[in-house]
Order: sequence, then C-alpha cells, then structure tokens
Amino acid sequence: MGDFTIDKSGNGEWAEEDSRTYSDLAPVAVPGRAEQIAALTCLVPFSAQEAFTAVDLGCGQGALGATIMSCFPHASLLALDGSEAMLHTARDTLRAAGERATRAKFQLSSSDWIELVEGAGCVLSSLAFHHLDGPAKKHLFQRLHGRLSGRGALLIADLVEPQVPQARDLFALTWDRSAWEQAGGGGGFDRFVETRWNHFYFPDESDKPSPLYHQLQWLEQAGFVAVDCFWMQAGHAVYGGFKEVGPLSGEGVGYEHALAMAEEVVARL
Ligand SMILES: C[S@@+](CC[C@H](N)C(=O)[O-])C[C@H]1O[C@@H](n2cnc3c(N)ncnc32)[C@H](O)[C@@H]1O
Repeated sequence: MGDFTIDKSGNGEWAEEDSRTYSDLAPVAVPGRAEQIAALTCLVPFSAQEAFTAVDLGCGQGALGATIMSCFPHASLLALDGSEAMLHTARDTLRAAGERATRAKFQLSSSDWIELVEGAGCVLSSLAFHHLDGPAKKHLFQRLHGRLSGRGALLIADLVEPQVPQARDLFALTWDRSAWEQAGGGGGFDRFVETRWNHFYFPDESDKPSPLYHQLQWLEQAGFVAVDCFWMQAGHAVYGGFKEVGPLSGEGVGYEHALAMAEEVVARL
C-alpha cells in the first residue's frame, strides 16, 4: 500500500499527513458531522431489514460505513479509500460489522475500481468527491449510475463551491462559526485556523468543489431521478439522486435513530 501520494498542503494531492490532520480536526472542522452521516443514512432507499450492498467512496475512518452497518443489520459494505492510515482506522471502526464489511485501497480518480460497484444498492461518499474536478465528477456520476442496481441511489456529502462572492463570504463565515461552536471555543478552533482548513478563506489546489446546482444537473443528466439537496450548512451539502422512486418494502431507518447511531460511532473515533 505504498503508492498513495496525494498531498493537500504541497503538490495538490492528499497525503498520509492530511489523514492524520483530518482525523484530529474532524470533530471541529466538519459542520454537524453526525447530522451529515445521519442524513445520508436515512436517505438510503432500503428498509432496515433488507439485504443490499453499500459502497463508501473515500471512507476515511469508516464512520459513515459503521453507521450504515448498525442501521441496516443485513446489509454489507465495501469501504474504499486511498490512505493506508485511514483504512487501518476504518478496520477498527467497522470491527462490529465483522465479515459484512470489507475495505480496499483505491484511487478515486482512476477507473479500475468501478466494477466493484456492480449491482450495489447504494453508493455513498462523504467529503471525498471535491478531490475531483467538475468534469471528473460528472463522468463519475454517469459511471456510477450505470453500475448501481435498479433500486440504487448515489448519496453524497461534500463541500460545494459558491457561485457569487456573497455566498463565499457566507460559507466562509458560517464554517468558522461552526468550527468555533464545535470546539467549544477551545484549542481545536486554533488548529482549524492554523491549518487554514477553511477552503472558502484559503482555497487550495487539492480541493476542487463544484457548485451544488451544477452537480444536481450532472446527477440528473446521468439518469438519476428525485435529485435534490437534503441538508446544507456552512458550504457543506448532502445531496444525491435515485434510480427509481417508490415506497420501501418495510420500515426505513428514521433520522433520529440514524443520528443516535452516528453520534455513537463518531464519539468512539
Ligand atoms: C476529508 S476525508 C473524508 C473521510 C470520510 N469520508 C469522512 O467523511 O470523514 C477525505 C478522504 O478521501 C480520501 N481521498 C482523498 N483523495 C483520494 C483519492 N484521490 N483516492 C482515494 N481516496 C482519496 C482520503 O484518504 C480521506 O480518507
């Protein structure tokens, strides 16, 4: 696992050092982290007792996957990431899921992993797609639509690019406020500032968020229906689309249950 060389601070790609920084910073830096995970989880178009495969692209520490595994006890998970350190942490986070969860190393921008998604019921991704530029995101949405099962969904949480300067100011200020509140006014906020993590104040070449509106259009053009934004705060959005719209065959996972599970998982990291 030695070929992963993306570096946020230097050559425009994510590096193992960024995995460590992100893991330390996430409780402060990710606005409403458990809320985002819960929003993604309760949108999964399967009832709690159904069997399906979920794929998490850029799984990081595995928090989203572990929440999905708790809420859907018959589902299985493929958690993919490019960072050895993240995959190592994800192994612990996903331990309770046993053989239902597998992990593998991948390069998001390459096309050699796409067949792993074949027949999946749900592809999820949190805070990873902004490492692809707009055309690459659009192409990925098309490829994922082609591989998902007939009832499948693509559900994304990510940083989104503002389209006017006032929106950039809004995203920047509200992200700082969120980080300040989540740090309880403590040292975590200083670290958030020192690392220049707020993309809307400190754009950096490894982060290529695309406007939300464009991404919703690309999802629709790829063939997804009921494309929408479901949650948004401080320049971070939860959005996605479905291959079909219909009632679940049983009871779904409600937001409150998903939130309780996500909070539990996040607290254990
Ligand atoms: C900001 S972290 C988010 C992690 C996790 N999904 C979460 O929400 O906490 C971004 C993740 O994407 C992974 N990543 C970034 N660029 C990647 C690439 N080109 N290929 C594979 N993984 C990548 C990183 O290793 C990292 O785990």
